[in-house]
Amino acid sequence: MKFKDIKALTAGQGPARSASERLSRRCHSVEDMRLLAAKRLPKSVFEYIEGGGEDEVSLRRNRSSFDDWSFLPKWGSVANHSLSSTLLGGPVAMPLTLSPTGGTRLFHPDGETAVARAALEAGIPYGLAHLSTTTMEAVSAAAPGLRRWFNLEPIADKVLLQAVLDRVSNAGYEALLVNVDCRAIGHRERDYRNGFTAPPSIKPRTVIEGALHPRWALGFLANDAIAFPNLDAEIPDGPLSSTPDMWRTLLAGSYEPTDWDDIKDLRARWNGPIILKGIVNPHDAVTAADIGIDAIQVSNHGGRQLDHMASPLDVLPDIVDKTAGRIEIIVDGGIRRGSDIVKALALGADACSIGRPYLYGLAAASQAGVAHVLKMFAADMTRTMMLLGVTTVEELRGEGRELIRHRNEVFTRTLPTEIPSAQFPAAQLAYSDLRTP
Ligand SMILES: Cc1cc2nc3c(=O)[nH]c(=O)nc-3n(C[C@H](O)[C@H](O)[C@H](O)COP(=O)(O)O)c2cc1C
Repeated sequence: MKFKDIKALTAGQGPARSASERLSRRCHSVEDMRLLAAKRLPKSVFEYIEGGGEDEVSLRRNRSSFDDWSFLPKWGSVANHSLSSTLLGGPVAMPLTLSPTGGTRLFHPDGETAVARAALEAGIPYGLAHLSTTTMEAVSAAAPGLRRWFNLEPIADKVLLQAVLDRVSNAGYEALLVNVDCRAIGHRERDYRNGFTAPPSIKPRTVIEGALHPRWALGFLANDAIAFPNLDAEIPDGPLSSTPDMWRTLLAGSYEPTDWDDIKDLRARWNGPIILKGIVNPHDAVTAADIGIDAIQVSNHGGRQLDHMASPLDVLPDIVDKTAGRIEIIVDGGIRRGSDIVKALALGADACSIGRPYLYGLAAASQAGVAHVLKMFAADMTRTMMLLGVTTVEELRGEGRELIRHRNEVFTRTLPTEIPSAQFPAAQLAYSDLRTP
């Protein structure tokens, strides 16, 4: 080989010139980003992102239910491929949203602002947590063109509720993303074992964890203390200092338990779209459609609340059937690849949403990390749709059910209904066995 041939082979192998180039070389999947986040964060903080309720059955099932579905690609042109779509009457560059996550500045000091900017750049909506660590107004100022949704915790006190709605509306939030799965806080045993509190309290273990993760510790100490400023106006005593206090306040006093009448009241008060987040019961989905709710987020809170709550993908087909196009459907929980989004859309969802994947990106590399996660989802989704033989999101949602099979239905749906028994006696036997109810 000549020197110039060797030089050509090493082209592009110099040091990375930007954070996004570094991430492109290092992270080829959400799992790669998760491993990077695990290195950057103290164990207790990382496990706060990772953990689920009780035995974490729902958490695991959220992932495994995607493996139950297989693709049946069709042959045909995929020219003019596009991921763009619409959601709640507005455009989205791909059918994905960022779900609310409380306490986001714990994972990186740039927190919600970095997430909002990455969502804006990617052309997708972001649901800001009621329990965010940056004010709703600051997020609006950081990403003015972003489609912003506000993750409202239900509030029974109508005076307080109206004050919050006015603040949300003045800050330019287009939709309310209302939690209906948090009547009690989930029992996350990893947090108890790790002694995790939000904000972190200083104990000998915290000091050691901080020393082992100096970049995180410096960012944490050099920036404003972690607080939940969207609650400031609502709680006369000022900012709440710890998660248990905050939850006690949310679940008692002014935040009395709410019911469907409060959702109807909210519908009457808020002119924009309302999404109910945390529905897995088809009857609740139908009730939501009946009272004029615009969308539901089929979700078990990423397996963090009620353990053994159904996996969103498992209940999706029934919800799609029962609501019959009367309400838009977003699905979250366990989505780690573009192929997961393709499966959910093929089963009738309008869009998907993610929590942990973008937090891994944030923890690893701030805005560039979130942006890289979103680029991986877009690239994955494009590749999966092309291999499946589908050009647009509309086509995927229209014909998708014929391109995907649950492992229990692969044989029953693909075999012909009549098999001449004289020709294939063995096949006839196996087929009729499968069809036995
Ligand atoms: C660290 C963390 C904090 C969360 N905080 C909230 C919250 O404040 N409000 C909410 O509705 N959901 C919250 N969620 C749930 C997410 O919105 C979303 O439903 C879930 O993360 C989706 O599952 P995934 O993480 O597997 O993508 C949180 C999730 C995580 C991981």
